[in-house]
Amino acid sequence: MRNKKYRFACNAKAYNVIEPYLLKTEYPNGWPRTYFQNNNPLVIELGCGNGEYTVGLAQKDYNSNYVGVDIKGDRIWVGSQQAIAMNLKNAAFLRIRAEDLDKFFLPHSVNEIYINFPDPRPKLSDAKKRLVSPRFLDLYTKILIEGGCLHLKTDSSQLFDYALEILEQNDFLIKEKHYDLYDYLEHTPTIQTKYEKKFLSQGYAIKYLKAELHK
Ligand SMILES: C[S@@+](CC[C@H](N)C(=O)[O-])C[C@H]1O[C@@H](n2cnc3c(N)ncnc32)[C@H](O)[C@@H]1O
Repeated sequence: MRNKKYRFACNAKAYNVIEPYLLKTEYPNGWPRTYFQNNNPLVIELGCGNGEYTVGLAQKDYNSNYVGVDIKGDRIWVGSQQAIAMNLKNAAFLRIRAEDLDKFFLPHSVNEIYINFPDPRPKLSDAKKRLVSPRFLDLYTKILIEGGCLHLKTDSSQLFDYALEILEQNDFLIKEKHYDLYDYLEHTPTIQTKYEKKFLSQGYAIKYLKAELHK
């Protein structure tokens, strides 16, 4: 456990942590193609927290580029340091608010978006802060390619049902849905996030959906 100040200082030196101010100085001609130096498919994880999912995906597939997005630098530090230790060149972390996604990704440049255990925001007054609310889906529609995928994992039945409804009203086709992912997967190994482990240990069923964008 290192304190926040230490983690922020590491992030400032880490080549794989992208802060908005770097875009002008280090990547004046665009990001993330300049960063990854290839045209491989681009996959982002929103609200990546400690980034274990981004790191896990990047380890499994060197032919795609993975970007973990979160506003909390002290959480991103965990994934950033792991990716550096593993010399993973296809993983990076972007410390921004999800609300600003379209400022950092070109239109129709992203192949897939993963959202794992987002804050469910159950109050009606917080509905527009949910990462699957229509205003966020508008952003995803701007940056995803046609046929691009959105994946959601959550412990919250309320958020899951809300997402299924809102996605279908907003140009997304539900391709897969499971109310108990681990019952469906049986013993297939998966990458588990910090929150996923916590909810599993508390006995929650993990819900999963995959939706495809068709405008
Ligand atoms: C409940 S945690 C889940 C973290 C991780 N996905 C996991 O499964 O362990 C939600 C994460 O989303 C991030 N987050 C919430 N709203 C966000 C926003 N609007 N923009 C960027 N990150 C956000 C939080 O900082 C937090 O790390």
